[in-house]
Amino acid sequence: MKQAIDRLTERLDGLMPTTALVLGSGLGNLAEQVEDAIRVPHSELPGFPKSGVTGHVGEVVAGKFAGQPVLMLSGRAHYYEHGDAAVMRPVIETLAGLGVNKLILTNAAGSLDPDMPPGSVMLITDHINFSGSNPLFGEPSDRRFVGLTEAYDAGMRSAFEKAAKATHTQLHKGVYMWFSGPSFETPAEIRMARLFGANAVGMSTVPEVILARFFGLRVAACSVITNLAAGMTGAELSHQETKDMAPLGGARLATVLKYVFRKGLLDG
Ligand code: HPA
Repeated sequence: MKQAIDRLTERLDGLMPTTALVLGSGLGNLAEQVEDAIRVPHSELPGFPKSGVTGHVGEVVAGKFAGQPVLMLSGRAHYYEHGDAAVMRPVIETLAGLGVNKLILTNAAGSLDPDMPPGSVMLITDHINFSGSNPLFGEPSDRRFVGLTEAYDAGMRSAFEKAAKATHTQLHKGVYMWFSGPSFETPAEIRMARLFGANAVGMSTVPEVILARFFGLRVAACSVITNLAAGMTGAELSHQETKDMAPLGGARLATVLKYVFRKGLLDG
């Protein structure tokens, strides 16, 4: 990871963000709100994965967001692209090596609750790993036994809740269940997910949470709801819908994030 860390250190030219944000499907326009943006394509960063998913650009955007230093990752790679849950490991390891100690993950997700419709934002309180995979498969050290009891940092969560309240933005809270994708779930799987206690389903985030905890980063994660999950409306799901609907919740999420950054709620 040394090459990527050195390259970014050089390009960042003294900017030392301690918070990084991973932008999910359809949320890439948040990166356009970075001031004095320094853009580094993944192709310049050894070990960084290429994402072929439309709606994901594949670059690191560093600069100021609401006046605070930030590093945004526009475009993540997914388990379903590579069949490797550890595909984001070099990225998270690089962030840790750069001195980033807080990671905010965002994603597009399907809702299991009609009262949390498309356009809603859900702060993830916990997750269910239903993929059968884990990014720490093969990790030889005993550090692989990462505790996930407090995976979603209480302090960061309360910062988001405070910001939502102050900006009069509705922020749902719930459990995110990770399916491998890339096919969407079946209605029967969604009924199972509900019985298991999930509130939203998606194809990302969980491996990055596990990796971030492995590398000692504090984590917060938010889902923007792009659809009601399979079988809930009778309509077929599509990636086009995900991309079309994400900006709706994305605007809400941006409002909350800006307040969090402007007020420095994650510091300390
Ligand atoms: N399921 C899985 N992933 C998703 C969904 C969904 O319904 N919507 C957006 N990403």
